[in-house]
Amino acid sequence: MFGSPIAILGLGYVGLPLAAGLARAGNEVVGFDLDERVIDGLSQGNSHIQDISDAELAESISAGLRFTSTGSDLHGFGAYIICVPTPLAESGYPDLSFIEQAGALIASQMRSGSLVVLESTTYPGTTDELLRPILESGSGLKAGIDFCLSFSPERIDPGNPEFKVTNTPKVVGGYQPCCLEAAASIYTELGIEVVRAKGLREAELSKLLENTYRHINIALVNEMVKFCNPLGIDLHDAIRCAATKPFGFQAFYPGPGVGGHCIPIDPNYLSYRVRSELGYAFRFVELAQEINASMPSYVVTRLQDELNEHSLSLKGSRVLVAGVTYKADVPDERESPAVPIAEILINRGAIVSYLDPYVTNWQIQGSQIARVIQGSLEGGQFDAVVLLQSHTDFDALDFESLAPVVLDTRGSLQGAAIKRL
Ligand SMILES: NC(=O)c1ccc[n+]([C@@H]2O[C@H](COP(=O)([O-])OP(=O)(O)OC[C@H]3O[C@@H](n4cnc5c(N)ncnc54)[C@H](O)[C@@H]3O)[C@@H](O)[C@H]2O)c1
Repeated sequence: MFGSPIAILGLGYVGLPLAAGLARAGNEVVGFDLDERVIDGLSQGNSHIQDISDAELAESISAGLRFTSTGSDLHGFGAYIICVPTPLAESGYPDLSFIEQAGALIASQMRSGSLVVLESTTYPGTTDELLRPILESGSGLKAGIDFCLSFSPERIDPGNPEFKVTNTPKVVGGYQPCCLEAAASIYTELGIEVVRAKGLREAELSKLLENTYRHINIALVNEMVKFCNPLGIDLHDAIRCAATKPFGFQAFYPGPGVGGHCIPIDPNYLSYRVRSELGYAFRFVELAQEINASMPSYVVTRLQDELNEHSLSLKGSRVLVAGVTYKADVPDERESPAVPIAEILINRGAIVSYLDPYVTNWQIQGSQIARVIQGSLEGGQFDAVVLLQSHTDFDALDFESLAPVVLDTRGSLQGAAIKRL
């Protein structure tokens, strides 16, 4: 395999499982993170990532995985894999400062013969136009000649019990063919099927294509659900029927909005690139953004309509928000649509509580929201329940008995009194 030891920069949802997997496969691996709390916790054997249990972490540490927040500990490594965040800045534009910072550190520590792989999701051109100059000017080395440079998008799906790092094919693109093969050798050694992209930009775009595809198809059903309700059509049933077609259709489901990083944030990287380089809009992405972002206020309007049917006003109603993470059975709250929904509910005078086994403390607009524990729930406590996330724990709950109005934004509850989005 190419390059040893291996440094993983950024130990979050993406970097920690990769570092642990590489260490367990027998590689000398050092995990680097700027956040000292992360390094302290991991060094003490406490995993902060749901997909890596403390037992797996202990196994990886026994296999030699080490952690540091000191950049000079990464001197002269064979490979550096960058897994740092790529958020949006306040301006709404891509914030590539984390990649720039990681690149500058690597440039100061790498040696001739090192491999550098970027895994963070970003727009096409980042590896070649942003990262390569940082590495070359900081190290005095030339990509494709003195060191290898690759991009390989991470496709991890946190909480997915079936598909993990090792059984999900990995797209790899190289600055030069030798760079591609160097990066491919790392993933192949982990038993991962490698898909070779034509170049860096194709590998970068492939990830954004995947995320944009989901974003747009979710927006399609979200727009449809808004007109299906007044037309008296059950969209979930129509999707169930359409999904029986064995080819040419993939089911997507309406919901309260999109959360996490991949769907609401990443497509903006692509539309930014199109607009900044070519001067026009990537209209599909912008429309999807508009529709998906409108869902929280649509949910509240629907809840208000359902309360109205019971001669109740939203103002003063006791509303239980069930499931506040961005996806089922994960503790990740990033970009969760539960936040704008709670904000609108509170602004309209509702008395909001929440139920979520994964979130022990939930603040909206700086105020603590009252937490309800599943075991202590009883009828009569609430005027309305809005289900935003179908955590498996909720399977044991009889939602209909909790309140006169139950709005199910996921289409997962059964019962005569349950209202679907
Ligand atoms: N979470 C996902 O499901 C997922 C899936 C596929 C791709 N991605 C992409 O992978 C990248 C990482 O995402 P994540 O979810 O792992 O992020 P995360 O926020 O969970 O973790 C990132 C870590 O990087 C650290 N960090 C920041 N700057 C650093 C630096 N200069 N050097 C070292 N460490 C630094 C942070 O302290 C943090 O611990 C992003 O580009 C994201 O879009 C995420």
